Amino acid sequence: MQTRCSVSIEHNADPMKQSLLGIIGHHISYTLSPALHNEAIRVLGLPYTYGVFDVSGEMLPGLLEAMRREHVRGANVTKPHKEAVMPLLDELSGEATALGAVNTIVNTDGVLRGENTDVDGVRASLVPHAAMLSNEPLLVLGAGGASRAALYAAAEFRPCTIMIHNRNTERARQTAAIFAALFPDVRFDVVEAANLVQAASQARLIVNTTTVGMTPDTDAMPLPNETRFSNHQIIFDIVYTPLQTALLRKAAADGAAVINGMDMFIHQGARAFTLWTGEKFPVQAPRERVLRELGMR
Ligand code: ATR
Repeated sequence: MQTRCSVSIEHNADPMKQSLLGIIGHHISYTLSPALHNEAIRVLGLPYTYGVFDVSGEMLPGLLEAMRREHVRGANVTKPHKEAVMPLLDELSGEATALGAVNTIVNTDGVLRGENTDVDGVRASLVPHAAMLSNEPLLVLGAGGASRAALYAAAEFRPCTIMIHNRNTERARQTAAIFAALFPDVRFDVVEAANLVQAASQARLIVNTTTVGMTPDTDAMPLPNETRFSNHQIIFDIVYTPLQTALLRKAAADGAAVINGMDMFIHQGARAFTLWTGEKFPVQAPRERVLRELGMR
């Protein structure tokens, strides 16, 4: 029987000694967040365990109420709830408010605060390429919560233009309007499907924030098949399951520099972990654990 709400926890924790963390999303069996965080918890010997809260939108209010009541310390939030969760929280950080998206919840004595650590993840992935982004045109694919984090981080590198393409063009327009107000020095242009190949050829950096190419549909491409890349371009796919998406395989074959979703995944998780536990995230062991899990798939 298919249920709309399922909870699975990786370790058998002693409820008297452990506090619960987890990831809230729907249809997220692919997620490696439990592997990432449980490895960090194990390395540091902390009294937490990290599970999966797979819920539909209508179950969200009940889940958040249970978080308050049961003293769940915190959670990550992923697709499709990053925006829907916002009105259900008690407080929002400045970045979460500016982005209109929450990917991390911190529970302090029943007060649920929404944060956005996806921005830290994108920033960490782009910093090594910062010098190549200033005053250049960029293209962001997608207009959901992850897209907003990518736009926010990318805009800080002062490109001249950020083009936004989304399957739902109206959503791209709304996102472009929000960011034009936030970053008046950067131009935000919406790209329709008919102009996408040309836009992709002009962009110095392309960031895929859609779920296209993610397991199990790993041959899917977020850009038309006729798109060609060059060795002047950087292609960044925030998908991390698999690490080498069809987009990155094609970009590398055409000579472009590629950035996979690993650093983004690690750094968004690292900041969330510190917000919940107060501890510095031990990057190395969780990274190796995630790579091992990916290798087993
Ligand atoms: P997140 O908060 O993680 O970004 P989301 O808000 O559900 O998740 O956004 C998912 C993104 O992937 C959206 O841009 C979505 O496009 P729509 O806004 O048109 O729904 C995009 N996406 C998902 N499946 C897609 C598909 N098959 N083709 C193109 N874009 C897709």
